[in-house]
Amino acid sequence: MKKQWWHGRTAMQIYPKSFYDANGDGTGDLRGIIEKLDYIKSIGVDIIWISPIYRSPFVDQGYDISDYYQIDPGFGTMEDMEELLREAKKRDMYILMDLVVNHCSSEHALFKKALADPEGEYGQYFYFRKGKGNGQPPCNWRAYFGGSVWEKVPGQDDLWYLHLFAKEQPDLNWENPALRRRVYDMIRWWLEKGLAGFRIDAIINIKKDLSFRDYPADRDDGMCSVHNMLKHASGIGDFLLEMRHETFDRYNALAIAEAFDIKDGELPLFVGDDGYFSSIFDFSTEGLCKSRRGYFASGLPSVTEVRDTLYKSQAEMGDHGFFCNIIENHDEPRGASRYLPVSGQNDAGKKLLGLLMHMRRGMPFLYQGQEIGMMNYPFRNIDEIEDIGTLNEYRVALAAGLSEDEALAAVSLFSRDNARTPVQWSDDPQAGFTTADTPWFPVNPNYREINVRAQEKDPDSVLNFYRSLGALRKDPAYAETIVYGTFEPVLQEYSDLYAFFRRSAGKQLLVLGNMSEKEVTVPVPAESGDPHKDLKVVLNNLKHLEIQKNRITLAPWQGVILDVT
Ligand code: GLC
Repeated sequence: MKKQWWHGRTAMQIYPKSFYDANGDGTGDLRGIIEKLDYIKSIGVDIIWISPIYRSPFVDQGYDISDYYQIDPGFGTMEDMEELLREAKKRDMYILMDLVVNHCSSEHALFKKALADPEGEYGQYFYFRKGKGNGQPPCNWRAYFGGSVWEKVPGQDDLWYLHLFAKEQPDLNWENPALRRRVYDMIRWWLEKGLAGFRIDAIINIKKDLSFRDYPADRDDGMCSVHNMLKHASGIGDFLLEMRHETFDRYNALAIAEAFDIKDGELPLFVGDDGYFSSIFDFSTEGLCKSRRGYFASGLPSVTEVRDTLYKSQAEMGDHGFFCNIIENHDEPRGASRYLPVSGQNDAGKKLLGLLMHMRRGMPFLYQGQEIGMMNYPFRNIDEIEDIGTLNEYRVALAAGLSEDEALAAVSLFSRDNARTPVQWSDDPQAGFTTADTPWFPVNPNYREINVRAQEKDPDSVLNFYRSLGALRKDPAYAETIVYGTFEPVLQEYSDLYAFFRRSAGKQLLVLGNMSEKEVTVPVPAESGDPHKDLKVVLNNLKHLEIQKNRITLAPWQGVILDVT
């Protein structure tokens, strides 16, 4: 694997609507990001991915773009964006935008033209198909946000357009070379402006199974999941390699894919020196205990299941490429609420999660607020939910026979809105996120206990621990091992214990994490070499560590990095 400019860095996702509101209108904005650049840098983060800031009707929070060349006025202006790029550069920081090109918004000028003349030139930019007759759409695929993937073209008898997500997000027809050229032009236009690259949205969906055939229904609605179609669609690599050569390669840009549903054995095609992308997110634990029937039928995985899944994905990637490692993002609940058992949802547990994320091979990719240990939102009422996806899941739960309270409880656990609450900057009103009386989304009521200002003052805070993790990745004594070292699990018979080596030439680190409420004593693994040598503690999320003759006792939720060279 060739070394790349971004490998040794740390990244963070910003969800701009909820990050920081500089102009006091209740919604986060670009100037808010500019104001907080020094804070972000202080966590050791130098790459920032900003969720969509393009002009949008916000049916899916900006993932429905009506103009790819404009900043949405809710976030500011193009001048603000240019200033952000300049200010980032001054600090040796890099900005990535979200590349949402599986679909656009139904308000996009191209789609409006297409609707007006589906048979004409612009109709070719989308998928229009005749139905089966009798008011039946062309096939029985269910959209990710519920209902059919087909929506009737207004004013037409039996003509439909395809949308794998909401009906306001019509799918772009990648089979049309003119569409692909437009997409590449747009990507280059932004890279010319000084972007360092993109996070690439829902990209696996750009290749359709063009037979548009039915698959067996998997719910009472008679429809089937889009995943069936993705299994049968082949040839995505041609599009992705073309995109890479036409755009990212020319700028040495960082292209990170959100790619679910990669077929078995195809990971090596997606990443690595000749892969379609620079990197992809490791979503291996995201689907654990998730049911295709919906949130209501899903549960939370055990500590051991999560651990073993992460070990497996590390092994699959090996030295071939580089993952982006996450515990949460804007589509997921908060990592501390999801991956820590309730008894571990405390500072030690949160630091341990952060430590394990930073010490896996790949680039640590934080999500805003993770560094202070923000938690899920305590939803009391379905009216508090904004997210189109969660509202659909609520309907699915009710249809399955759950009561309103049960349905709310089920969707609260997984709702994307958990991570979309405003960042908790202080214990001032509205958590210091805005000076407006009402932020666009309520702040989590725990902001008085969990906020940046309080944690800045506390040397033992979660925030300051994340700073230590960020600094360690760049420490010349450890960087090579942490960034490029091998990942080798040991002591797997201890079910709630993470134990792995990171090894590079002449250096080895042993990472131990006790993901349980019980103390655990483990032998120092023989792989550490000379049993009599001193074990040097590089980082510890608690004050002490008990080491007795070749045995180490870890307190509940304790995580340590030991230099066992
Ligand atoms: C991706 C985004 C998600 C969005 C969807 C459709 O999964 O992360 O937020 O709803 O794509 O664009």
